Amino acid sequence: MCGIFGYVGTDLDAAGLVLRALKQLEYRGYDSWGVAVAHDRRVVLQKQTGKIGEATAALPPSTVGLGHTRWATHGGVTQPNAHPHVDCAGRLALVHNGIVANYRELRDPLTRSGHRFRSDTDTEVITHVLEACLAQAPDGPEQLLKATIAAFRQLKGLNAIAVLDVRTGQIAAAKSGSPLIVGWGEGATMLASDYSALLDHTRRVTFLDDGQAVLVTRGSGRLFDVETGCELAPEIAEIPWDRAATELAGYPDYMTKEIHEQPATLRRIAATSRHHARQLAALIGQARDVFVIGCGTAGHAALAGQYLLARIAGHRVTFATASEFQYLQDFVTRGSLVVALSQSGETIDVIDAVRAARGRGASIAAVVNVEGSTLWRFADHAVPLMAGPERCVLSTKTFAAKLAILMLTAYELARQGDVGCACIINAADEIERLLAGDRRDLIRRIADEISTRDHLFVIGRGPSYPLALETALKVKEVSYVHAEGFAGGELKHGVIALIEPGTPCLVLAPRDETHDDILAGAMQVKARGDMLIGVSPEPHEAFDYHIAVADLGPATAIVNAVPGQVLGYYLALLRGHDPDKPRNLAKSVTVK
Ligand code: F6R
Repeated sequence: MCGIFGYVGTDLDAAGLVLRALKQLEYRGYDSWGVAVAHDRRVVLQKQTGKIGEATAALPPSTVGLGHTRWATHGGVTQPNAHPHVDCAGRLALVHNGIVANYRELRDPLTRSGHRFRSDTDTEVITHVLEACLAQAPDGPEQLLKATIAAFRQLKGLNAIAVLDVRTGQIAAAKSGSPLIVGWGEGATMLASDYSALLDHTRRVTFLDDGQAVLVTRGSGRLFDVETGCELAPEIAEIPWDRAATELAGYPDYMTKEIHEQPATLRRIAATSRHHARQLAALIGQARDVFVIGCGTAGHAALAGQYLLARIAGHRVTFATASEFQYLQDFVTRGSLVVALSQSGETIDVIDAVRAARGRGASIAAVVNVEGSTLWRFADHAVPLMAGPERCVLSTKTFAAKLAILMLTAYELARQGDVGCACIINAADEIERLLAGDRRDLIRRIADEISTRDHLFVIGRGPSYPLALETALKVKEVSYVHAEGFAGGELKHGVIALIEPGTPCLVLAPRDETHDDILAGAMQVKARGDMLIGVSPEPHEAFDYHIAVADLGPATAIVNAVPGQVLGYYLALLRGHDPDKPRNLAKSVTVK
């Protein structure tokens, strides 16, 4: 979703630096962008709708700049609605992530007192609130900070704001909910909503907590508590990845790169994550009851975790979609454990769910890819996914990583950690073979055949049911072909009505206890003219296409996600879509 980058330093090309940083935030999803610099004590702006693409900074030299990528919430995708927003006096340029819940109440008195609004956004209201606060704040080096804190206290909702003051050359920021990170560079201090915008300058960062504000001046950044106004000592952390990890490294796009990084990710987990899995297993073993939650792909991994923990460790955990978990919280008590899965660690539905659960006395364990993210810092116990940066909007390698961590945890719970590691390595080897050989070409041919069809159905039972949901999600979000995943047994309870001659149906049929029943279901759709694509160790007479996946016991689930990823990818290409940036989607969903 929206991205923020601010720079206060010595380089006169602040505009260029901000624009390059915004390009690093593109993967989060956005529909307009803007940059402001301080020049001759004036705000100079460049704002545009659409993608940054090959745009270059057309702004005068300055050592202070602030930029934003906007994913529209309040107000359409127009140039005036793009951030930064400037106050009436032309002294402030402000950017914002989040939603100001009380923006109407704030706007009316401002309009009456003569403030001129130029956009339809909730954000511009903050600019004018801040302008009014600035008029009240005493002159001096902390004037901007004090006004920012005073304005921020008036906002309702989850927000992160950053404001550039052309008179002082400072940037002040404050946050509740949406992420903000201070980057400590050589002779420059930066501010970003995502670590990847900072990596060209530094890996030394401070993650702002909710209710904190920062005043960024050249070579310094001072942290404050919004409620008390007291200064705080910043905690410095090191980002575990460098810029190279975020580059394409010869791949045509990030989706391909990240699909191919799955074997290495799995081997890394097998080699280094046992102690994390053991600790998580101990927490699960001790808890009175355990809930596993996540959204989207992370939710599918959580559901798979429910099956894996039951089958491997005989342990019952309850899956819930994070956005629905609030409606089940009556059962969460002291002694409950909530295991939250998230790539970004910023998904608002997950953060809200764990906050509420902690309020009821539960402990929180998080399985997260982005170390230092909100969820990571909030959790009582955090397990890193170790997948490296994931920049394609679609989750692929982090899905494999979540399954591997949960599988290893289940094996640790069953006191068979060695078996767990061996399973994960087997899955890594099989994915490598699948991606290197004929099977990838076969999936490309299947994509060719079905690329003009309107629907794809995917069925699986037991541990393959979450895989059916995940396969369908991958296909539909990147190719826009309507795809639905079902529990195999559910087909004849309604969905079978949709089957027409030639409708493709992908059947997940590993050699486990679901094998015979899922094939029986497949035969029923075949009898109605369906085109069957079987994903299973051996062929079957009903399959029109057979994607062979070795029998790896529970680890088959990790491999069985890959055909859907590759199919979705080829369908996207054939239908002319950018696989890295599907329309309307954002990498990190920080608003409800
Ligand atoms: C789908 C996808 C999304 C995310 C979901 C949760 O490919 O990426 O469904 O899984 O938005 O995001 P995280 O894992 O960051 O909490």
